[in-house]
Amino acid sequence: IRMILIGPPGAGKGTQAPKIKEKFSCCHLATGDMLRSQVAKKTPLGREAKKIMDAGGLVSDEIVIGMIKEELANNKECKGGFILDGFPRTVAQAESLDKMLAEKDQKLQHAVELQIDDALLVARITGRLVHPASGRSYHQIFNPPKETMKDDITGEPLIQRSDDNADALKKRLATYHAQTAPVVGYYKNTGIWKGIDASQEPGQVWSSLVKIFGESD
Ligand code: AP5
Ligand code: ZN
Repeated sequence: IRMILIGPPGAGKGTQAPKIKEKFSCCHLATGDMLRSQVAKKTPLGREAKKIMDAGGLVSDEIVIGMIKEELANNKECKGGFILDGFPRTVAQAESLDKMLAEKDQKLQHAVELQIDDALLVARITGRLVHPASGRSYHQIFNPPKETMKDDITGEPLIQRSDDNADALKKRLATYHAQTAPVVGYYKNTGIWKGIDASQEPGQVWSSLVKIFGESD
């Protein structure tokens, strides 16, 4: 499969993407996770990215396009296809992705938009807990871990992302509407766009996704 998930912060991209990875044995590439791993390692790129991420802005197109290009070329899991989570986020990124795929005689098959009102996202974002090493996420109320503040699989501690507060969320949403909403328009013109209601509970969102896969193959 070759698909992208588009949606505002907290829409559920990182919740649904691992299930798609499992179903299709493809790779799950999340530019936010890749950037956070640079931040954790305190690389020069990570230090620069952290400021931008905490302020709710976008890291430069060159950097994220470079990261995706590198993974698509070298990550063996991507041989079975890919699910992109958080990329493309600008029209320039979408155009680069099309070019990258065209060079391999490939095309994107699905561009799925997770649609949800901004008002519902505050609770999702401020209650989120993450396991940094795997990118797995939980929610204090909607999806609590089995043991308080511990990852179900490794038992390692869960943390809150430094950009998961009401202030940074406001800026991330403004960035989404200004720079990423046009990406939705870009795909609506191609015939591979589908929108699904992301305010439903996670299992129902998954059913909506499965329906889209079923329609195409
Ligand atoms: P990124 O990590 O991509 O953050 P984001 O887009 O803001 O999205 P989130 O991870 O916050 O939301 P999600 O949709 O994954 O939600 P989740 O499933 O976890 O990017 C971070 C930053 O990196 C950006 O701000 C930017 O600076 C930079 N960056 C990244 N990519 C870039 C790019 N391409 N170009 C430039 N800069 C880039 O769910 C959220 C919570 O809700 C969880 O607690 C979950 O348990 C819960 N939940 C999920 N689904 C449901 C449901 N159906 N019902 C109830 N609760 C639910
Ligand atoms: Zn995410």
